[in-house]
Amino acid sequence: MSAVGAGASPPPDLSALAWTILEDNDRGQYSVPTGGLYPFQWNWDSCLTALGQARRHEARAWTEIATLMEHQWPDGMVPHIIFHQQDDSYFPGPDVWGTGRPVATSGITQPPIAGFVMRRLFERARDQGLAQEHARALLPKVAAWHDWFYANRDPAGTGLVAIVHPWESGRDNSIDWDEALARVPDEGVAPYVRKDTSHVDHAQRPTKAEYDRYLWLVQHFRSLGWDNAKIHDASPFQVVDPGLNAILIRSADDLAWLAETLGEPALADRQKHHAEKGRAALESLWSEDHGQYVCFDRVSSAPVDSAAIGGILPIFAGIPDPARFSALVARLRLLLSRARFATASHDPADPRFDGLRYWRGPAWLIVNYLLVDGLLRAGEGDLARRIIDSSLALTKNGDLSEYYDPHTGQGLGGGHFSWTAAMVLEFLELQEG
Ligand code: GLC
Repeated sequence: MSAVGAGASPPPDLSALAWTILEDNDRGQYSVPTGGLYPFQWNWDSCLTALGQARRHEARAWTEIATLMEHQWPDGMVPHIIFHQQDDSYFPGPDVWGTGRPVATSGITQPPIAGFVMRRLFERARDQGLAQEHARALLPKVAAWHDWFYANRDPAGTGLVAIVHPWESGRDNSIDWDEALARVPDEGVAPYVRKDTSHVDHAQRPTKAEYDRYLWLVQHFRSLGWDNAKIHDASPFQVVDPGLNAILIRSADDLAWLAETLGEPALADRQKHHAEKGRAALESLWSEDHGQYVCFDRVSSAPVDSAAIGGILPIFAGIPDPARFSALVARLRLLLSRARFATASHDPADPRFDGLRYWRGPAWLIVNYLLVDGLLRAGEGDLARRIIDSSLALTKNGDLSEYYDPHTGQGLGGGHFSWTAAMVLEFLELQEG
């Protein structure tokens, strides 16, 4: 029960509000991140949203992931958007992607968080029979997605996968991509009209120069017939993101655990191998200058000079070296000291920081959740609690937005947001526990 401050109007019932949002954004077999701005199914949004749904409706939560995985490509890739139905309020839509799938999808992927979410749903399951049935059916599909990543996005076998489009990172316009994106041509992009800036103030969204290049890459991959055997090497944008790799490593660990539990030792071994190799290779992304991990640009063969939240996310993957882990925690504390709310998606001390613009500074509750999980596993309870409290402070007036200004706490981007609602349910539970 939350306390009501003297004289103040009662704070909104956050849990009830979160449920209203999850129900409003529920389209039956999948959820949209929010109506209008994102009217389709998004890959990692769905998985993280399922964590919230499962607190009341376990079957519905499993369906969210099962629906996503139904649209896996024959090569193993799981697309970042499934265009379940026609809706003109979003650009770029199915015609621009032209992937030729039976149900239209985009042609790129997103952070593979499904393995992590499945283990969590499984461990929390009240209905063990249902959990076993779903986990068993999903296991080989999610494993094939992980295998796809390593085969197609790490052709040289380094242990780390690259993204070929900024949207694959889930951190669309991070400062991490600026240099690599600047090398992507912008000529020959078919004329287009953006829809995002008709829903959200343009100051909170990527710039036109970025959008031109996002679309150039889409056109380029389309001209290659969306053949993933060619795309990595043919892309002028190939960046190794410690954030995405951390999520992949953790999901591979969790999938291995599930496989062992369900009596699939060969599948477990392969996932363990991915995770161990990936964790060892993460070391190559450490930056002494920044005191955290940074991206690596495969085209220019150089580390990226940018201290973004993706380089702190290895906390979620588990870092075996205690000295390295302590250094990363120190870095996170420093970042937290530089803004009022947790956690700025880019270092506020960097002149390129922008507290309003999407992934160039704003705080995101889903990122906070991944950090909290990693901290709790490593016994950093105090720091985890600080992030939990700060996340709930951002939403306490009932503003469950897409992201927040880490200095003022103002809600930004889309409103009535599914994964923010799911994270609120998770944080409320963690705060009580
Ligand atoms: C934006 C975010 C991405 C998210 C999508 C839908 O593109 O950057 O991470 O999946 O919106 O919410």
